[in-house]
Amino acid sequence: MRRDGVREPWVVGVSGASGTPYAAAVISGLLDAGEPVDLIVSRAARLTLLDETGRPFRDAHWVDDLAGWLGRDLGDADVRHWPAGDLAAGPSSGSYRVRGMAVVPASTAACAGIAIGLSKDLLQRSAEVNLKERRPVVVVPRETPVTRSHLEHLISLHDAGAVVLPASPGFYGAGASASAQQLVDFIAGKVLDALGVPHTLFRRWSGELGAARD
Ligand SMILES: Cc1cc2nc3c(=O)[nH]c(=O)nc-3n(C[C@H](O)[C@H](O)[C@H](O)COP(=O)(O)O)c2cc1C
Repeated sequence: MRRDGVREPWVVGVSGASGTPYAAAVISGLLDAGEPVDLIVSRAARLTLLDETGRPFRDAHWVDDLAGWLGRDLGDADVRHWPAGDLAAGPSSGSYRVRGMAVVPASTAACAGIAIGLSKDLLQRSAEVNLKERRPVVVVPRETPVTRSHLEHLISLHDAGAVVLPASPGFYGAGASASAQQLVDFIAGKVLDALGVPHTLFRRWSGELGAARD
């Protein structure tokens, strides 16, 4: 989305928790809605991506690597990539125009770092900046079971204004035979709902029990 002719992207931070399909679905959902995206992929996320997709993510080849990961042509897409180690990058500053941020998936380490203002990399710094600027921030933690400190960090994030949206999909949209992709899309759709971005990623509750079996 552009206001006053200025590009205002959503920052998507991908940290090193399991669940790279959630990130892919959120990025694709934003691009499908015509929203610009600024992407930050943490060092650890490159390991989870390799593990879960067999694909590398390299700063020098990010366009090809992202297109392969998303399984789509990025020809017309308004997407920009910032290396996670670049602490001078645009999203490190509150004066850089963005709409807000999704951290998806969010590792316990990323949740802790954002909650205490560690800013150990660009992902954590950008999330902290968006919180201090009172912009929408959605955090999608993926870990189970959790410790008290995990929970305390999530409470801190909630109190700082973030929407804490655990990667715990509901089955009511697609029914008990839901595919893995439908469960992923449920979470991605909830992230887009929290950001106020329209989507058709899941079937909304109709008020009728059993509608998913129709
Ligand atoms: C294959 C793999 C899967 C992982 N899954 C998770 C996970 O589901 N949740 C989590 O909090 N950390 C997970 N980790 C550990 C994080 O990657 C690790 O804590 C890392 O320091 C997170 O760094 P980041 O927040 O900068 O991305 C996983 C690591 C690997 C290699």
